[in-house]
Amino acid sequence: MAEYWYIAEGFEERIKDFQSRKTEAEVNLDFEIPEKDFNAAGKGSSELKDLLKRLGVNSEILRRIAVASYEAEINVAAHSKGGVMYSAVYDDLIHIRFQDDGPGIEDIDQAMVPGFSTADDLVRELGFGAGLGLPNIKKNSDAMHIVSAKGSPTLLELFIYIS
Ligand SMILES: Nc1ncnc2c1ncn2[C@@H]1O[C@H](COP(=O)(O)OP(=O)(O)O)[C@@H](O)[C@H]1O
Ligand SMILES: [Mg+2]
Repeated sequence: MAEYWYIAEGFEERIKDFQSRKTEAEVNLDFEIPEKDFNAAGKGSSELKDLLKRLGVNSEILRRIAVASYEAEINVAAHSKGGVMYSAVYDDLIHIRFQDDGPGIEDIDQAMVPGFSTADDLVRELGFGAGLGLPNIKKNSDAMHIVSAKGSPTLLELFIYIS
C-alpha cells in the first residue's frame, strides 16, 4: 500500500494531536456512494454542508468543506466500485473519511498532478474527468491523507479545522 500525506503549514501538531485523540465526535454522518450514481454522489457533501451551516460554521470554511467533500464523493462514484463517506464533526474540526471498494490508485503522486485523469467516456460525458478533483481537495483542506494501491480499496481522509 502506498501512503500520501499533505499537511498545510502550521497544522502538523494539530494533526498529530488528532491521531491520539480519544474523544468521540459530536455528530457523525454516513453516506453510501454507489458506483456511477452521480445523483447519490453529492448528497453527503450537501447534507454535511447544511448541518454545519445550522451549527454556525462560517461561510468560507463551509465552502471549502463543500468543495473538497464533493470532489471526493464524485471520485468514489466515478473511479471506484462504490464506497462510504463518513463525516465526523468535532468542536474544532471536521474529519471526513472516504472508504471505497477498489480498484485503487496505482500512482498517487501522479493522480495528484493537475489534469491527470483516468476517467472513462461515461464520466467525461457527464462533465467530470478534468483531473482537478484531487488538487482541489488539497487546496481546500488543512490536511489530506490517501492510502491506496492498484487492486486495493482507497482511503481518503480530509481534515478541515473550524476553530
Ligand atoms: N477513489 C478512487 N479510486 C480510484 N482511483 C481514483 C480515486 N480517486 C481518484 N482516483 C484517480 O485519480 C485520478 C485523478 O483524480 P481527480 O484529480 O479527481 O481527477 P478526475 O476525477 O477528474 O479524473 C483519477 O482520474 C483516478 O485515476
Ligand atoms: Mg475527480
